[in-house]
Amino acid sequence: MSGYSVVVADNLCNSSVEPLRRIEKLTGQPVTFYNIDLRDEPALENVFAQENFDGVIHFAGLKAVGDSVTNPLGYYDNNLLSTIVLCRVMARHNVKQLVFSSSATVYGIQASPKYVETMAMAPVNPYGHTKAMIEQILADLCMSDPTWRITALRYFNPIGAHPSGLIGEDPNGIPNNLFPFVMQVAVGKRPELIVFGNDYDTVDGTGVRDYIHVVDLALGHIAALEHDPEPGSYATYNLGSGSGSSVFEVVDAFKTASGRDIPYKVAPRRSGDLAIYYADPSKANRLLNWKTAKTLADACADGWKWQSQNPNGYAS
Ligand code: UD1
Repeated sequence: MSGYSVVVADNLCNSSVEPLRRIEKLTGQPVTFYNIDLRDEPALENVFAQENFDGVIHFAGLKAVGDSVTNPLGYYDNNLLSTIVLCRVMARHNVKQLVFSSSATVYGIQASPKYVETMAMAPVNPYGHTKAMIEQILADLCMSDPTWRITALRYFNPIGAHPSGLIGEDPNGIPNNLFPFVMQVAVGKRPELIVFGNDYDTVDGTGVRDYIHVVDLALGHIAALEHDPEPGSYATYNLGSGSGSSVFEVVDAFKTASGRDIPYKVAPRRSGDLAIYYADPSKANRLLNWKTAKTLADACADGWKWQSQNPNGYAS
């Protein structure tokens, strides 16, 4: 616990209030909640009129790559407008510290698989474009008014769960991402994992990603909030471990953690996937004094605790 009082605003389009109740149980602190859409400016104005904020962490956004390809307008509308309205309301209330959830997806295809913040952004799908456009908006905002302090955190692949097993990932429908899919196969909700390609030029032919435990990710946000950059500065940081794991390595680690079999079938590559990428986290290590402390095995143990205790997610 870092000693902050937390206020949450969410339209619940992809979540529920149950995790907030569980956070209250874990921390013994109340969490004030507003069920609003960030694009609703009068509603957000009302939140800022009632509360007294030191800073804002902006997590709100749609994040499924496939959906963003079929519904680009919905993605641009939700992700961009929510950020613009939020910044406008923050400015009116003189709250000018913002930490934004960006993504490794802003890098797209690069000459090297080791992504570093100095690389030019080159996203390859509408979801990635929304993150890159928001980063540009935030950089321009800092430039226009030096009293802002804005940090964009580029997440690599977040996995795992809170070690209590009380809070974890509960995707709607069929999971798009590897880790929740593996968890659901282990608990018996799905018959088998489909491995998207085993013919990549990697250690075992499957895709390699930089998986990061959600608790390390959360601590990266605290480090960003507490870091005191120059006013008017806009900064980006990679939040990753600096090394990658293959799909088969994740499956093996989860088998060990759960003691369950994870049946799988190899299918063709998923369109848009890259063979391998991982973070260069040295900027966050150096300037935020932050680095990952948890391993893939820790993430699998905590993920299994969550999934086995909550086989149907928060509805369990
Ligand atoms: C995906 C998004 C990325 C986003 C991130 C958020 C794509 C192309 N990219 O990253 O933009 O920021 O999620 O968490 O969707 N895999 C399987 N079987 C599955 C699912 C995945 O083999 O059922 C493989 C993939 O081919 C990949 C690895 O597992 O090699 C990780 O996939 P995933 O968890 O979807 O993450 P990314 O594709 O890296």
